[in-house]
Amino acid sequence: MAVLPLTVRPLQPPPGSSIDFGAEIQGVDLENLTEEQFGTIRKALYEHHVVVFKHQKGLSPKAQYELTKRFDPVSDNYGHGKTIDAKRSILHPDLKTVPHQPQVQVIGNGHVDSYEGLKDITLRHPHHRTFHQDHVPEEKDYEFTRFYRWHIDAALYDLYPPQVTTLMAVSVPKGRRQTLLYDDGTGETMDVPLGTTAFVSGERMFELLSSEDKELVKTSKIEYAPHPYIWMSQAHSRSTGLGMHSEGLELPDSELPPIDPGKIMVFPMTWKNPVTGKLALQIHPSAVRRIHCADGTTIDDLTRVRDIVYKLQRPAISPQYVYPHDWEDNDLVLFNNRGVLHSVVGAFQPDEVRLFRQCNLAASEPPVGA
Ligand SMILES: [Fe+2]
Repeated sequence: MAVLPLTVRPLQPPPGSSIDFGAEIQGVDLENLTEEQFGTIRKALYEHHVVVFKHQKGLSPKAQYELTKRFDPVSDNYGHGKTIDAKRSILHPDLKTVPHQPQVQVIGNGHVDSYEGLKDITLRHPHHRTFHQDHVPEEKDYEFTRFYRWHIDAALYDLYPPQVTTLMAVSVPKGRRQTLLYDDGTGETMDVPLGTTAFVSGERMFELLSSEDKELVKTSKIEYAPHPYIWMSQAHSRSTGLGMHSEGLELPDSELPPIDPGKIMVFPMTWKNPVTGKLALQIHPSAVRRIHCADGTTIDDLTRVRDIVYKLQRPAISPQYVYPHDWEDNDLVLFNNRGVLHSVVGAFQPDEVRLFRQCNLAASEPPVGA
């Protein structure tokens, strides 16, 4: 049988966009990957950060898991471990585990009779009204949306951030578009496909900084809150989905599950690309707790920590730097979870059914800094 040549084609930014990442890969059977083909895919992932494979109908959850694992063969546990079992975690309602492949989660919207051993499930696309301090009025909900929450896929306590995430679109409602509002006084908006996944480049986020701020982020570290998704469960996001308002609503340690200080994560602000050596500004804005400065001091005031991080990150989520993927049935997207931030977007009607599979694995090694 003739083997098709594997091709990597960078995405063409639409008019007005300045994105410099994203690629489509063609000519590969993901159920039967050779070492050489995987090497090409890995290189493409770290050069382009978001890679799209079209027409992957029939790709099994097992093949999705195995492809994900190939980026970090020692890893084996879902990126959030069992922390999503905690009923108070803000991630809990959004994920359903594939019974025969527990590293793969089913996400989406609407009612599904049966899928991969899950029966009679109702999925709920996260809506910003459940997370943001204020929200788009009900009567405008069909037309307008926001970035739900910019993030890295990571437990940020006990487990290291996954290297890659794979997202498989099993079925996508088509045709509708929405206007995304930043609602932060800038007047910025974006036209987006319903239920897009939005990506920004952490490398661009770094490049946009002043030389002074570049030095700051290369030499500072971020400490994350223990059990962050329970800790922030009563708090509210900014309208841009890029970090939280400081209203004193975070749960005190006494209301969190037991904290093992050895499991608290402190990471560099910039993470080095393992293929190109470029630096990405990689901070999960809603889970930040402290900044550890180069001189050994610590910034402990949560409001100040958040304001510093917001000023560093906000320029890079302006519309011209955002890639909103326009999902079609059977798209498989891989993204460099250590080189991009991403966000759920969109407000679905209850009868708009969307079915996706997501897989990532807690990494075997922490990210490496500058
Ligand atoms: Fe995610």
